[in-house]
This record gives sequence, structure tokens and C-alpha cells, in this order.
Amino acid sequence: MQFKNKITLITGAASGIGRAAALAFAKEGATVIVSDMNHQGGKETVELIHANNGKATFIKTDVSKYEEVEKLMNEIIKQFGRLDIAINNAGISGVITRTKDYPVDDWDKVMSINASSVFYGMKVQIPIMLEQEGGVIVNTASIAGLKGLPNSIAYTASKHAVIGATKTAAMEYGRNNIRINAICPVFTVSPMFDPDALEKIAQGVPDKLKANVPMKRFAEVEEQVGAMIWLCSDQASFVTGLALPVDGGLTA
Ligand SMILES: NC(=O)c1ccc[n+]([C@@H]2O[C@H](COP(=O)([O-])OP(=O)(O)OC[C@H]3O[C@@H](n4cnc5c(N)ncnc54)[C@H](O)[C@@H]3O)[C@@H](O)[C@H]2O)c1
Repeated sequence: MQFKNKITLITGAASGIGRAAALAFAKEGATVIVSDMNHQGGKETVELIHANNGKATFIKTDVSKYEEVEKLMNEIIKQFGRLDIAINNAGISGVITRTKDYPVDDWDKVMSINASSVFYGMKVQIPIMLEQEGGVIVNTASIAGLKGLPNSIAYTASKHAVIGATKTAAMEYGRNNIRINAICPVFTVSPMFDPDALEKIAQGVPDKLKANVPMKRFAEVEEQVGAMIWLCSDQASFVTGLALPVDGGLTA
């Protein structure tokens, strides 16, 4: 119960890595604010947590809209009075195509959901953490924040932005006892990355992707969550500004 009564916000928690994180933080005693634009999925995450006697509530938010992110923070303060941990995790992969064919609208959409959302989140989370004289933030980037990923220019640019924003904010607020890090997942089995569905539309591609990973497999959501938990724990009390690859050695 290392996060007993810690007020913990997780965005993109209706599904995949975010849902797994919500369940794991609740199991460690946190009071989890499950946030997502997917109402049904968010409610289901809360029900799963309640079924395990954990504490959670759902607040619907579109993280690509600053007014909604601000409203989310106000609601957290109204209901709980503080925010100890924030996991800015919501994201989309966007269309898969070459740069010259990449639609401008899709670029804007991916950048706002993946990158602007992290800035908006930290912009409202940091003031309350300053008042409390401490807090922890983990942003979900990607290995595509560390290296190029052909056919995904917006996704790759957005995740590089997440890492830049993470490092900058970490340097600004280290002196205030606010630690800010990012995780950089490799292909992780989730609704966003479904190897079986991919195999049906692009035969042999999942095996090729797997072959590039030194550990010769894809990640499970719980393996990404393990890194989030460590970064939020006292075990990582001197770790800030890190973009941690959780990638089976891909970027080694
Ligand atoms: N799965 C992978 O292989 C992989 C690899 C690297 C990084 N990531 C990153 O991990 C994070 C979680 O991905 P996942 O695999 O769990 O995918 P997922 O699709 O299962 O979950 C993403 C969640 O974000 C939510 N979301 C999307 N747009 C939103 C918005 N505007 N406002 C609020 N919520 C929104 C979705 O509703 C969904 O619940 C993302 O940031 C993703 O880029 C995933």
C-alpha cells in the first residue's frame, strides 16, 4: 500500500496502459481519478477498482482542450483538496502514412491530443503541487519520442515534444520537490496496438516488429505500469527529468 490515500490522476484510463495503471495504483492504496473522454470505458475502470475494494472516481475530460483540463483540475481540488500524483497518459497513434501524404488536420489532432495535453496537464498540476510543496508527474511518451518512426510523423513529433516538455519542467521544478519523468514504451499489447488485428491487415508485420526487439516479444501493459509505479515511488526519490525506455532493449 505504498500510495495509501495519495490522490492520483490518470488520463487515458478507460483503456490499455491507463486502465492497468489505474488498477495498480488503486491496489497500492491510491485514490484514483480515472479520466478519459471515453465515458463508458472510464466508468468500467472505476467499477473494476471498486470490485477490488479500491477507491476511484471518473471525471470525463478531453485532454486536448485546455478549458476541460482546467475544469478537471478544479474538480479534483473541489472533491479531494490536493493532487499527489499525475499520470498524463492519454494518446492516439494517428494515421499511418508517409510525410508527404500526412493530412494536416491529422497532424493537428495528434499534436493536440498527445503533446498539447501534456503541457496543459502540467500547467494546471504544477501550481497545486507547488502549494503542497511536492508531487510527482509521469508523462507517457514512446520510443517514438527517442527515435524516428517512419509513416508516423505526427506521432513521432508529438512524443519528442512530450520528452522535451518533461525535461524542461523537471529542471524548472526540481528545487520545489516536484519530480517529473516520462516513460517510453515500445509496442505494448493494448487496444492501440493489437498484434492479432495487425496480422490480419498486414501479414507478417507483427513478427518483423518483434524481431527488432532484443527481448523478442511485445510488452504487456503491466510492464509499462511497473515503470510508472517505480517512478512515482520513494525508490525513485532522486530521479527526475528521465525519459525511461521500457522497450525490451530496442533503443539500446
Ligand atoms: N500501446 C503501445 O504500443 C504504445 C507504445 C508507445 C506509447 N504508447 C502510449 O501509451 C499511452 C496509452 O496508450 P494505450 O496503448 O493504452 O492506448 P489505448 O488506446 O488503449 O488508450 C488510450 C486512451 O486515451 C484516451 N484518449 C484518447 N484521446 C483522448 C482525449 N482527447 N482526451 C482524453 N482521453 C483520450 C482513449 O479514450 C483511451 O482510453 C498513449 O499515450 C500511447 O501513445 C502506447
